Amino acid sequence: MRILVCKNYDEMSKKAAQIISSQVILKSDSILGLATGSTPIGMYKNLVDMYNKGEIDFSEVKTFNLDEYYQLPKDNIQSYYYFMHKNLFNHINIKKENINIPNGMNGDVEIECASYDEAIKNIGGVDIQVLGIGNNAHIGFNEPNDAFIKNTHLVDLKESTIEANSRFFDSIDDVPKKAVTMGIGSIFASKKIMLLASGECKAEAVYNTVYGDVTPQVPSSILKFHNDVILIIDEAAATKLNKEDYKLI
Ligand code: PGA
Repeated sequence: MRILVCKNYDEMSKKAAQIISSQVILKSDSILGLATGSTPIGMYKNLVDMYNKGEIDFSEVKTFNLDEYYQLPKDNIQSYYYFMHKNLFNHINIKKENINIPNGMNGDVEIECASYDEAIKNIGGVDIQVLGIGNNAHIGFNEPNDAFIKNTHLVDLKESTIEANSRFFDSIDDVPKKAVTMGIGSIFASKKIMLLASGECKAEAVYNTVYGDVTPQVPSSILKFHNDVILIIDEAAATKLNKEDYKLI
């Protein structure tokens, strides 16, 4: 696990966008695994800027998003479908048919989950998966649990996640209680993983990811077992790490 620490959120966002851009320049038909939440918004802004300057072409890129709320319509402004279009897809030349986001509205959620994993497998796996991290160390919506769940699945969100995400909704009662998320196995099928974290509220989750035991109670801890993981975090998220364990950039 390599750890790069950037001065602040803007620098983290720039670095993350540069890594995605290098991936797409090296392989124009890259498969990108994408994430939602506050953390990657700056990275998406940088990617849109690069696209506007003609520095990156998404015409052959395919994307798979990590997760989606269960039974929240696509046109709801809190859906991850809406988020991705607002922050990235509406501003770049990606083809609609190349965008994949779990459909939380599918009446048969088991079929939805199985076909999502099948689609990732059929395409040969994701080239680089972007992850945020929850205050409780969730990745995607793989919440602290008694076991790691391998495949894409329907999950009950933890109270702490519902509370954290309520900042985007009018009231906490409006936050969906379930979501469809890629499982740990689906995430691990990715060739590279880039985890982003910003702010002191993530420092403990980052500490546990780097130094803690691998346990499903700290879902991100399993990243230690993947052979190509990079953490791009800001100084605030790195406050609990030993300086010799990361590179300050
Ligand atoms: P955040 O969420 O980027 O909004 O902090 C990250 C996550 O919950 O995975």
